[in-house]
Amino acid sequence: MIDVPPPSDAPGPDPLAIFAMWLREAAERGACTPDAFALATATLDGRPSVRMVLYKGLVDGALRLVTNSASRKGQEIASNPSAAVVFYWPELGRQVRMEGRVERASASESDEYFASRDRSSQLGAWASAQSQPIATRTELEAAFEGARARFEGRPVERPPHWGVLCLVPSRVELWISGAHRLHDRFLYERSGDSWRVTRLAP
Ligand SMILES: Cc1cc2nc3c(=O)[nH]c(=O)nc-3n(C[C@H](O)[C@H](O)[C@H](O)COP(=O)(O)O)c2cc1C
Repeated sequence: MIDVPPPSDAPGPDPLAIFAMWLREAAERGACTPDAFALATATLDGRPSVRMVLYKGLVDGALRLVTNSASRKGQEIASNPSAAVVFYWPELGRQVRMEGRVERASASESDEYFASRDRSSQLGAWASAQSQPIATRTELEAAFEGARARFEGRPVERPPHWGVLCLVPSRVELWISGAHRLHDRFLYERSGDSWRVTRLAP
């Protein structure tokens, strides 16, 4: 293996700080849903699936998202916690990829986040058995009305299957669009408390 020295022109030592800065810049440039990203999971035997989800913050070096743990993605993560994500902001010509392990956040973090949602989203979380077959839209709307009646006059509890997930990245790639398709790519690999950086060919 060729020993490649770390590039001196990497955007910085901490890819998550750069990610957070780029996300802010994308929002400032008026990007449409800059916080939406693709989350890829896989079954234990390696069959992949991917879908869009929303970014809910970065806490202690782990990316937050919220979902239903009984969903397809939730079941795949339960049997195989490795996941990959990608953000792309065309307004900036930048892409961020991350790979790592997904863990469930604490019940108190999920409770706190659920409590901050508006009531109709809370009721929707009860109404939708995410990823399960349903016969008609009427059935879904009836489930929503059922949840509304159940929680009439009191706070909506967090459904046990609903919660915050944390992706703990061990690899992050920052991609910057360049002229003549000579894009810049910096791969950051977790090494103890810091990151080892390698420039990759585009
Ligand atoms: C822009 C966008 C944002 C979404 N955000 C979320 C989200 O934060 N959490 C979620 O569970 N599903 C979200 N969805 C729906 C997912 O893409 C997907 O349909 C759902 O999670 C079920 O996926 P699964 O069957 O693979 O588990 C979002 C969809 C779009 C298009």
